[in-house]
Amino acid sequence: MAMIALKCPHIKVTVVDISQPRIDAWNSDELPIYEPGLDEVVKACRGKNLFFSTDVAGAIRESQMIFVSVNTPTKKTGLGSGKAADLTYWESAARTIAAESKDNKIIVEKSTVPVRTAEAIEKVLKRNCSDSNVQFDILSNPEFLAEGTAISDLTAPDRVLIGGKIENEAGQAAVDALAEVYANWVPKEQIITANLWSAELSKLAANAFLAQRISSINAMSALCEATGADVAQVAHSIGTDSRIGPKFLNASVGFGGSCFQKDILNLAYICECHGLKEVADYWYSVVGMNDYQKSRFVRRVVSAMFNTIRNKKIAMLGFAFKKDTGDTRETPAIDVGKGLIEDGAQLAIYDPQVKEDQIAYDMEGMMGNITCYKTAKEALQDAHAVTIMTEWDEFKSYDWKEIYDVMQKPAFVFDGRLILDHDHLREIGFIVYALGKPIDPFIKSAEGA
Ligand code: UGA
Repeated sequence: MAMIALKCPHIKVTVVDISQPRIDAWNSDELPIYEPGLDEVVKACRGKNLFFSTDVAGAIRESQMIFVSVNTPTKKTGLGSGKAADLTYWESAARTIAAESKDNKIIVEKSTVPVRTAEAIEKVLKRNCSDSNVQFDILSNPEFLAEGTAISDLTAPDRVLIGGKIENEAGQAAVDALAEVYANWVPKEQIITANLWSAELSKLAANAFLAQRISSINAMSALCEATGADVAQVAHSIGTDSRIGPKFLNASVGFGGSCFQKDILNLAYICECHGLKEVADYWYSVVGMNDYQKSRFVRRVVSAMFNTIRNKKIAMLGFAFKKDTGDTRETPAIDVGKGLIEDGAQLAIYDPQVKEDQIAYDMEGMMGNITCYKTAKEALQDAHAVTIMTEWDEFKSYDWKEIYDVMQKPAFVFDGRLILDHDHLREIGFIVYALGKPIDPFIKSAEGA
């Protein structure tokens, strides 16, 4: 919304939320999320054509176009528990919109939703609006930005996708109205229109395909370790095939974030609901491979360190699910951390953006084995091993010789993001495990191979 405000000074954008503290934060100097470049964009428009408010009803009444961007988490209980999307917040937003609307509105689905949500929402809107003359046109406009690069993704998106009822005049007019907003800065040929269901499904499909690439390269990383191949070389070689392409082929300790797992589970659940068990199983296996990668990493740490990490201080560098964000949702650091603690480790966590109370929330019940540090230096002091969980740039610029000197010996590095200079670390004296790379003879012998 901030980007729309920035690029369209003639449009008034009001962001509303029922949470007063959240709106207060958006109106303050410290925004509630960390996203590079966002501060500048918000500051450039706030108070001019961008407003943050808790007056939900007022904003609905005065708007012609309403973007619904509420949470659609995975259901925790009931039918489809653990897989289906929970649309409680969506439905309640629709009921509020219906109750407050006195004139025609274009409703834009921004939240990621199951296919055919628009149909259900349309019914809720129509049946709950007291004025039967009010017309609601529903559009699907899924968001493809990634965290950490949100501003550049929004400034120059690969494409903008707008789904609507293009088969009828009103639907086409609504699509055109939204396309006109984006056309203020996105080239027309990059604004794609589709029918509603295709647009909804495209969002789930895009995330499933992206996650599937990571699980594929992570599967290769296990085979590379077993055979002495190097996953970075494999990724480079296959990525030069223009049909495959070089992006999203970085082997890692696992993908995280609030979207990939949730969207794949949701997609698989939709397949199951349509009797497509084999298709569902195919997508479930992408999540299964991700779980395997995380547990494989834990097993490697334990086995390399002579099969015991009890009471050993293990430094965890990075806790966010990727660099340039403070977001920890579904971060692989949670599962890896839990696995290491189950084996008795004492974790020393440092992340440049994640605060201790967030780590305490994510690692509930385990804080007896965790100390959070404000600097990497303190986390690394007297540590037996260091695990790289997030690819923060600053980790690359550390003086690793100095770090080696303050660690216990043998000093281990477990690079779950392949960002460090492994040859240099070995020269210093570290025992290095780099995911998907040939295994050090030291580790092989510790594992009894
Ligand atoms: C993802 C998609 O990339 C966006 O297009 C989409 O809009 C968004 O989900 C969403 O649905 O909201 P995001 O989760 O913010 O974006 O971040 P990604 O860059 O996709 O990274 C996801 C995870 O995959 C991270 O843990 C990252 O470290 C990991 N990853 C990514 C790898 O392990 N290897 C790679 O090569 C790339």
